[in-house]
Amino acid sequence: MEQLKVCVIGAGDLGTVHAEQWQKVPAAQVVAICDIDKERALAAQEKFGIDAAYTDYREALNHPGIDAVSVAIPGSVHRIVSEAAMRRGYHVLCEKPIAVTWEDGQAMVTAAQECGVKFALGFCKRFLEQVQKLRELVQSGIIGRPVFYRHISGISVRPKLWIMDKEMGGGPIIDMACHYFDQWRVIFDSEPVRVKASGVTLSADSSLMADYDPQVDTVTILVEFASGEVGSLSLSWGLPPGVSSGVLEDVLGPGGLITVRGFDELVVQTEDGATKVFNNLDTNMYEREIAAFAEAIREDKPVAAGGEDGMIALQVSIAALRSIETGQMVAL
Ligand SMILES: NC(=O)c1ccc[n+]([C@@H]2O[C@H](COP(=O)([O-])OP(=O)(O)OC[C@H]3O[C@@H](n4cnc5c(N)ncnc54)[C@H](O)[C@@H]3O)[C@@H](O)[C@H]2O)c1
Repeated sequence: MEQLKVCVIGAGDLGTVHAEQWQKVPAAQVVAICDIDKERALAAQEKFGIDAAYTDYREALNHPGIDAVSVAIPGSVHRIVSEAAMRRGYHVLCEKPIAVTWEDGQAMVTAAQECGVKFALGFCKRFLEQVQKLRELVQSGIIGRPVFYRHISGISVRPKLWIMDKEMGGGPIIDMACHYFDQWRVIFDSEPVRVKASGVTLSADSSLMADYDPQVDTVTILVEFASGEVGSLSLSWGLPPGVSSGVLEDVLGPGGLITVRGFDELVVQTEDGATKVFNNLDTNMYEREIAAFAEAIREDKPVAAGGEDGMIALQVSIAALRSIETGQMVAL
């Protein structure tokens, strides 16, 4: 394959990021872009000098010569587009979460196996140097093990209301938490075994959500791993406009603490106040992710994060929702 020809489905925030990063890959070319919003499709076509713009994914997938498809649309439609692309023999990079339902995700994994195509999931944080450094630090035992990883944040109802909806995006438990469920697997080098969660829907009566069915938007999720480590996520996407909490993210161990600042910095404190700072860790994770996917196709190598990884994260999200409903700890 001399020139890797790519079709990008979705010309919103992430579709635009994909198109831009694909243009940086040597001997790759975005030949088609598609969005049901015609203006967005045309704007991206013009911005990135793409041959053709479509508003129907089926027509876009019929564009001649496609090798790979980037899917960057809401989670509820990941399956229909990804499966159609795989059935035509195209390699697929699909944004996270893999899907909003178990059946959709499973159908995508099956289609990739049956069609023998590469199927990568957009767990971009695997390509963030900060996450790679965290893994290295935790694995080196710098703060001892097991560790307890905490993230706490609260922001207002998301302007993209579809993300808050039970069927379209799955709210923060499916849309955002999956990044953490995946990166914890990488950092701990272990698999999740039990999940407990409690949550409420602060936006339930918000006029903003009048046309949607909001999923639980405010939650604390505890994920226990086989290694004995614990991940704790306390998130809200349900605050009123203009209201937000601070962010606390750190990793606690028997020998110290690692503070996670933004995407850029890690501060390690060990006994008696010894401090070590690592910064400039905010690498262009999307550029690396797309370059790695192109390499996996060209060199027939495994993808960094695939459908099975997407299903493990989705399994944890679904277990968290079940735990909220039943009040019980859920074994995976
Ligand atoms: N990896 C990350 O860091 C990251 C960050 C943000 C979003 N995402 C994910 O990317 C995906 C897209 O999110 P976004 O922020 O770009 O949303 P967005 O709302 O900015 O864009 C989505 C676009 O998809 C289009 N669309 C919807 N259905 C379509 C269809 N059937 N065919 C073609 N186009 C369709 C919409 O018109 C819209 O332009 C989601 O799965 C989201 O979770 C990932």
